[in-house]
Amino acid sequence: MSIVSEPVLELSDVRKSFFGVPVLKGVGLRLFAGEVHALMGQNGAGKSTLIKVLTGVHPADGGRMALRGEAIAPKSPLASQKLGISTVYQEVNLCPNLTVAENIFAGRYPRKWGRIDWAAMNTQARVLLKRLNLDIDVARLLSSYPVAIQQMVAIARALSVSAQVLILDEPTSSLDDDEVQRLFTVLRQLRDEGMAILFVTHFLEQVYALCDRITVLRNGELVGEHLARDLPAPALIAAMIGREFAARQGTATPLETDDDETPLIELRGVAQRGRVQATNLSVHAGEVVGLGGLLGSGRTELAQLIFGLNTADEGEVKVAGQSHRIDCPSTAVKLGMGLCPEDRKTDGIVAELSVRENIVLALQARRGLWNLLPLDEQVAMAERFVKALGIKTQDIETPIGLLSGGNQQKALLARWLATQPKLLILDEPTRGIDVAAKQEIMDEILRLAKEGMAVLFISSEIDEVVRVSNRIAVLRDRRKVGELPGGSAEHEVYQLIAAETA
Ligand SMILES: Nc1ncnc2c1ncn2[C@@H]1O[C@H](COP(=O)(O)OP(=O)(O)OP(=O)(O)O)[C@@H](O)[C@H]1O
Ligand SMILES: [Mg+2]
Repeated sequence: MSIVSEPVLELSDVRKSFFGVPVLKGVGLRLFAGEVHALMGQNGAGKSTLIKVLTGVHPADGGRMALRGEAIAPKSPLASQKLGISTVYQEVNLCPNLTVAENIFAGRYPRKWGRIDWAAMNTQARVLLKRLNLDIDVARLLSSYPVAIQQMVAIARALSVSAQVLILDEPTSSLDDDEVQRLFTVLRQLRDEGMAILFVTHFLEQVYALCDRITVLRNGELVGEHLARDLPAPALIAAMIGREFAARQGTATPLETDDDETPLIELRGVAQRGRVQATNLSVHAGEVVGLGGLLGSGRTELAQLIFGLNTADEGEVKVAGQSHRIDCPSTAVKLGMGLCPEDRKTDGIVAELSVRENIVLALQARRGLWNLLPLDEQVAMAERFVKALGIKTQDIETPIGLLSGGNQQKALLARWLATQPKLLILDEPTRGIDVAAKQEIMDEILRLAKEGMAVLFISSEIDEVVRVSNRIAVLRDRRKVGELPGGSAEHEVYQLIAAETA
């Protein structure tokens, strides 16, 4: 990295309040050409808000922003893009019912003789995706691809604008290791060409693998700006969390279980054509079973099959020893299951409803609409979970869409905990959640398991899976390739994932 004396982008004393609550309290940021700069902070620290103020999504209440020394105040994301600032927002804003290529070029389709040149557009889209090593059919609808690919498409869209500044707000939260590496290769190349890149992530190892400098925010305030090599991980965490850090060092440990009992749920040869190959799996009451495997290994597909979002064409499912056919989620819910899905935006939160309404939603649905949960019980429940999971919100009546991404994720988890499920299926419950909050969430889940809840835990962070699970079922290519006891080493899981199929 070569730091020239003048920053490309300089923010100082930026202020922003929402409904009188200050979210940015005079924040500064300096971004230089030829660097990757990490913007770090806990859920709700103000990272996304800073990015949105900078790129014209929200007007600033005060402060100065300058691009190459010239004051700027973009009024819209398009205006900031025209200034040379290209952004991938945390909540990917693409159109699922347009094709991949249309999403990449939306608003600026290539034209020929006044008409949209579809062929040129598709070719250019393919070239861009090729850069990310992604070989997909660009003429297909975006919605036909999983979240990870959609995220890559959003990144490709940002790369297609030749910009001086590239901003990525948690671009890697649903990418697997391989995809992250491909993205990093492209980012390093862009940095070497002189682009200034601002990068938000909760994965600390990515910060050190990629970033040159780090700016830390806490509670809407600037804590510091450091060279990455001068700020090792423990110091970074301490800066993000502040003094509370010491109190949160406890690690969740898995519980003992009794194998002879009838499992709460048992799958025998359960399969769905093209999605899940014949699988045996059991989870006992009070047990946490982790599903380990890479993105695309079939973890989510298996979870959806158990919960009735898809239907098995083979095999048998027993719940508490009884055979059941679970072909829709309402059957699963009646049998005492809850599924906290991976994609909170499409399968989860209802942005316009309050935090309270979002939390009670699943419980209310199970009771039926004629049997309304009394308001005081709703309030008590919402307040209890806001406290237990540390959900950062002004109050429980705030529309959930106004919470930071990580805090929305916590509220979604609360929704399923509120139903007191016998089996809770968690698909990436800690995606986008900061280190300290992760610990709180896992502690809460293990506490509930201790009280007898069975948990099926899915995470692409293998270290987290081995840490909290009693047993780990390892998946590859949409089938189970083996099981390991809880507390196995991470590399043992990877070995099983990578092992040659017999
Ligand atoms: N449009 C809005 N209206 C009201 N409050 C908001 C709005 N956007 C954000 N906030 C609040 O501002 C605070 C900072 O949120 P922000 O999204 O910037 O956090 P973040 O650092 O990006 O967190 P995360 O890591 O969870 O994404 C949060 O308390 C959030 O509830
Ligand atoms: Mg954010």
